[in-house]
Parts: sequence; C-alpha cells; structure tokens
Amino acid sequence: MNQASALNLIEPDPLGGAEASDIQRLNADALSAEIDWFNRVLTCRFNLYFEQGENPFSDINEIPVPDLSTDKSMYAQTIRLFGFDERERLILILALLPNIMPQALDTFFIRNKLFDKPYSEFGGWQSGQHRGFMPTIETAAFLIAGGDIEKRFVLTELFEPDHPFTAHNILMLDYKQFGEPFFCTTLGMSTEYLNLFTTGEVHKPDFSMTFPAKRLTTAACWDDLVLAHHVKDEVRHLISWAHGARTIMQDWGLAKVLKPGYRVLFYGPPGTGKTMTASLIGEEIQSDVYRVDLSAVVSKYIGETEKNLASLFDQAEKKKWILFFDEADALFGKRTQGSTANDRHSNQEISYLLQRIEDYPGIVILATNLQGNIDDAFSRRFQSMIHFAMPDAQQRYRIWKNSIPAQCPLADDVDLHALADNHELAGGAIINVIRYAAIQVVQTGSDHITQEFLDQGVVKEQRKEGKSL
Ligand SMILES: Nc1ncnc2c1ncn2[C@@H]1O[C@H](COP(=O)(O)OP(=O)(O)OP(=O)(O)O)[C@@H](O)[C@H]1O
Ligand SMILES: [Mg+2]
Repeated sequence: MNQASALNLIEPDPLGGAEASDIQRLNADALSAEIDWFNRVLTCRFNLYFEQGENPFSDINEIPVPDLSTDKSMYAQTIRLFGFDERERLILILALLPNIMPQALDTFFIRNKLFDKPYSEFGGWQSGQHRGFMPTIETAAFLIAGGDIEKRFVLTELFEPDHPFTAHNILMLDYKQFGEPFFCTTLGMSTEYLNLFTTGEVHKPDFSMTFPAKRLTTAACWDDLVLAHHVKDEVRHLISWAHGARTIMQDWGLAKVLKPGYRVLFYGPPGTGKTMTASLIGEEIQSDVYRVDLSAVVSKYIGETEKNLASLFDQAEKKKWILFFDEADALFGKRTQGSTANDRHSNQEISYLLQRIEDYPGIVILATNLQGNIDDAFSRRFQSMIHFAMPDAQQRYRIWKNSIPAQCPLADDVDLHALADNHELAGGAIINVIRYAAIQVVQTGSDHITQEFLDQGVVKEQRKEGKSL
C-alpha cells in the first residue's frame, strides 16, 4: 500500500450523500471520545509517576479504550486501516492536540520545584506563535512508558522510516539539532492527516513558502497534443518505463545495475507543448505532476531552500509524484564563480538539488528553452532528451483545428490552412491568437470569430516575439 492508495482506501462519504458538516460532526465525536481517554491516561500517568492522588488504575493499559471498530469517522477508519494499537493512538492524539485542543497539554507546563526548571521527562519544545505545549517523542515516551526504560526502548520502532507514521506521512517528525537525543524530535501532525481527521478533506499540497511546487493539471487529452512521430515515441517510451518500472527493477532484479528513476529533459522554444506533455504523462500513469519553478526556489528561499527541497522530495517520493522542473536552465553548464556568499550558497543548493534529482526513484522532467550548450556531464544524467521543435505547417494546422471546438462560432471566411501555412507560430502562440480573437468577438458585439480578428491576433503575437511584420 503506497501513500496515495492509503488515502484512497478511506471512505470520504461514509454516511452516503452526507453534508460536509455531518462528516465533521462524525469526526469531532470520535476525536472527543479519544481525547477523553487520552486525558484519563495522562492523569493516571502523572499520578503513577509522582505517586500522588487517588489512582484506580495501576497501569495506563487498564483504562478502557474507546471502541472504534464500527465508527465511521476518518480517524477511526485510519486506525483500522493501519491496525494501530493503543500506543499508536496515544501518539496520534498527542500530535493532534496542539491543533485541536492545546489546553489539554497545559499540565506539562508544571515546573520541577527542586531544580526550578521544567521537567526533562516531559520533553516538549517551544514554537514561535503557539502558546501551548508542543510535544516531542520524549512526551510520548513519558505518557506511554513513564519511567520504564525497556518500554521506552521499544517505542523507537514506531518512529522508524517504514512505520506508517513516517511511510504514509501521517506524522511530521522533525529532528532539529545534530547531536541532540533522538527523543527531542518534535512530534507534529501532517497537514494532510490533520485535514482528514477534522474537516474530512483529502488535501493536496499547493504552493507556499515552504512548499515550492504547484500541481499541474490539464483538461486536454493525447489527441490534442500535436508532436512529430519520433517525439511521441520518446514520450511513449517514458510512459512504458513508468508502467513497467516495478517489474524491470524488482522482479527482474535490474535495480542492481540500473539507477532508480527516470530523468528526462524537454528542450525547445516557448509554447511548444513541454508543460502540456508533462501534464498528460501524469494523467496517463495516474500520478500527480508537481511543477517546481527553479528560479523561484533558488533566488527567493536562500537559507531555507535545502530544507524545503528536502521535504518536497521526501513527499514526492512517498506519493510517486512526477516532478517537473520548469526553467531548469539554472542547473545547466557553468556554475557561477563563487565570489559572493550568495553565489556560493546557490551553488551549494544546486549541487544538493542535482543529487536529489539523481537519486529520485520516480520520474523527473526538466524543461528549458535553451537549445544547445547543455554540458556533456549534465546530459549524461538523463535517460532521454526530447526536443520540442517548432511545429511545421501541417502540425500547426492540426493545432489550429484541435484548439477550436466545434461549437465555437467560427466565420465561414476563416482559412485555417492559410493561417497555418503563413505564420510560424508555436502552439502556445496559436492559443493566444484564438483567445484574442474570441475576446474581440465579445468586445465588438459581433457574432463570429472572423479571419480579421485572427489576423490581428497573429500580428500581436508576432510583435510579442519581436518579429517584423
Ligand atoms: N504540440 C502542441 N500540440 C497541441 N497544443 C499545443 C502544443 N504546444 C503547445 N500547445 C498549446 O499551447 C499551450 C501552451 O503550451 P505549453 O505550456 O505546453 O508550452 P511550453 O513548451 O511548456 O512553453 P514554455 O517553454 O513557455 O513553458 C498548451 O496548453 C496547448 O494548448
Ligand atoms: Mg512550460
């Protein structure tokens, strides 16, 4: 079960035709019961540990756990899907609480009077704006193991990379400082599962300061894409790799000799279909395509870049995304000579990025408008380099034809053959001309897209490209 399929197994509408508010109530009810249980465990742990208060239980395990065996909430479904036990449930609630009921953790703020400092055994960390207690693995260990060192050892297995907490990106575990104990790792809930457990929404991450990528989608289909035969063949080859990767690498044991993943360079002038092809490949192999704008990454995120890229690659790897690096020119050829601190920094970031690209087990597509001057050392890293050339007259005709739907009010005088023959425009420019002409129809109150409107649009496009008329 991979990351994406786990979420697919969760029934988003367990009540059948329910409103979003019904789903949220279902989630809230399940979480409230779980929090009540958590509170009892917490009180019991404190009483046992500090040998105080009235304690009806001699162990936290004696406290009855809410029965989630038939509960339909997203939380209960997730617990059943992964077969989580009491320890895992306590950890989940602990990670959820700062988001949904921060005051429930305030008990951890009591101070050790003997040393006039917080109790080391509670763990916890201080975050910027949040006034409440933020848990670490230490906090979970205190809750679950108390002073029992052996139980504490066993707990580490829950934070291994192959445990669903990490493998399915349920928890956000951040190991802050080299040399500090592992138990200082902060314990957070991923946005994805936080949304699932609360609003019930399956969340797809989108561009933000810490997530420098945006999901690409397209309404187009393969038949809309006009490419030379040999270019389509190359694209098909890549798709076959995606379909057969598992068999090739694992069943046939070729992982021993072949590098993981598939790296491909799309190069060619603007508007020739590079982005469109990347989106269509995603549709074909049912993977999300995330577009990373390198110019934004390298210039704007100085200092944070490596961390952001690391989390992007980690997520991408788990979810089998296709990574599409647009304007990848920054990665090619000569690095800037490291004179200033910024230059050195961006060289370092580029090296890091190249390494991650090289190790990526899925598909990475890099796109550029540069034609030549891609250095050899760099080209060797690609499994294929696909040239998106300017379309010839025949291809241009097909793009014109495909891009104007039948219901579009096209005037009889429009001669698409002539437009295709006379103007060397890339697909992107053709689309712009069509948009311009359509707006002209609305603006002038006329009935049809006429040859004249299209000709005006062509002139505008040529001006944009700096061509003489
Ligand atoms: N080969 C093509 N076949 C059909 N339509 C095309 C083709 N090339 C471009 N188009 C049309 O032009 C639009 C823009 O193309 P696209 O964004 O894929 O170009 P690009 O090569 O990525 O350009 P850039 O280098 O500027 O990023 C597409 O969404 C599509 O409508
Ligand atoms: Mg593009």
